[in-house]
Amino acid sequence: MARVREVILGVGGGIAAYKSCDLLRRLQDRGYLVTVVPTPSSLNFVGAATWEALSGRLVTTQVWERVDEVRHISLAKQADSVIIAPATADLIARIAAGRADDLLTNLVLAVDLPILVVPAMHPQMWLDPATQSNVQTLRNRGFTVMEPEVGRLTGDDIGPGRFPETDSIIESFERVIEVKKDLLGKKVLVTAGGTREAIDPVRYIGNRSSGRQGSAVASAALSRGAEVTLILANSQLSEKEEKSLEGINVIRVDTALEMYTHLEIEFPKSDLLVMSAAVADARPSQVSDGKIKKGDLQSIELTQNPDLLKSIAEIRSGQIIIAFAAETSLDLEVAKAKLAAKGANILYLNDVSKGAIFGSTKTQGIIITSNGAQIEVPNTSKDALADLLLDQALIQLG
Ligand code: CTP
Repeated sequence: MARVREVILGVGGGIAAYKSCDLLRRLQDRGYLVTVVPTPSSLNFVGAATWEALSGRLVTTQVWERVDEVRHISLAKQADSVIIAPATADLIARIAAGRADDLLTNLVLAVDLPILVVPAMHPQMWLDPATQSNVQTLRNRGFTVMEPEVGRLTGDDIGPGRFPETDSIIESFERVIEVKKDLLGKKVLVTAGGTREAIDPVRYIGNRSSGRQGSAVASAALSRGAEVTLILANSQLSEKEEKSLEGINVIRVDTALEMYTHLEIEFPKSDLLVMSAAVADARPSQVSDGKIKKGDLQSIELTQNPDLLKSIAEIRSGQIIIAFAAETSLDLEVAKAKLAAKGANILYLNDVSKGAIFGSTKTQGIIITSNGAQIEVPNTSKDALADLLLDQALIQLG
C-alpha cells in the first residue's frame, strides 16, 4: 500500500477557494499533512494568513519567496500527491500549456505524482472548447480531472461548473492515490523508543532502541485514518521521521514508570496497543543526587520494573495488543510462549543479533498471532512491517 501523507493543496483564483478551507480541514482530519500553495490571484478570495493559520505551515505563492529553500523543488520532493481545488479556466490553461509563472505551476511541472484537479467556474467557461481541450490535454497526461457539479453558481446562472462537495473530492482523491482508510474511527496507541533509568544525574541504564519501528507504526496508522497517540522514550529519529509524526499525539517520556503512567491513562481509550518500546526491565534501586565518583561505581543494586504490557493487558476491555520480542535467535517456541505470557494477540519476533536491526530502517523476523497465523518477514523496511502488523490487527479487530 502506498503511503500518502504529504499533500499539496493548490488553490486557484475562484470564489470556491473559500470552500477549500473545509477541504483542507477534512484532509487533516483524515491524517494528511497539507501544504497550501495558492496562486497569487486566489489571495483575493482567501488570504495567505488564513491558509497559514489553518495548515500551520508556511504559505508562499511565487518562486521569488524563500529562494534559499528553492520551494518548488523542496515541496515537490516532500509531497506524495497534489490536489488543485478550485482549478480555474486560467489555471487549467496554464498547466496545459506547461507554463511556470507562479509557485503552483512550477510545482506541477516539478512533480511526478498523482494530481487531482477540481475545476470550478462559470458554465460557459467550462463548456468553452478552449477549456474542454485543455482538460482533455491534462487527462491525456495522466491528471485526474473531476467533472464539476451541475447547479446554481455565484450569480443566478445554473449549469456545470459548481465546485463539488468536500466528500466527493475526498472520495476522488483517495481513489486517485489508492489509499485504504481502514483504520478510520479507530484509536491506536503506540509505545516506542528505549526507556532510561537514572543511576545518577549523568548516567543511566537503558535499552537500545531508536524508536524507528514504533514511529513507523504510528505514522502508518495515521495514514490509514486512525487517531494515534505515541508514547515515545528517547528516540533517535531523523528530521524527516520526526516530521512524519505531525498529526500524532506524541507524549515524550524518559523512564519505564513514566511510560506506565501514560499507558494507564491512554490504554482504556484505545482500540489497539502496539508495544514496540524497549522497556528497561530494571531500574537502580536508588538514584544518587550527585554524580557518583568512578571509584565508588562498583555495583548497582536494581529493582525490577513492572512488565508494562502484562500489567496493562490485565485491564483490557477488548483491545487488541501487538507485542515485540527482540531476541538473539528466531526461536518460535520462545515467541509463542511470550505471546501467551504477555496476553498479546500478535507478536513480532526479530533477531537483533549482530546489531542488524537497532537503528536501521530495515527489519527481518516473524509475525505470530494468537489465531495461529505465522508470517515470515524477510529483510524489509520498517514502514512495510508497520503495515503488515496493522493488517493483522485489523483482522483481529474484526
Ligand atoms: N515489555 C514491557 N515491560 C517490560 C519489558 C517488556 O511492556 N518491563 C514489553 C515490550 O515492549 C515488548 C514485550 O514486552 O513488547 C517483550 O519484550 P522483551 O524484552 O522481548 O521481553 P521481556 O518480557 O523483557 O522478557 P525477556 O527480557 O526475559 O526475554
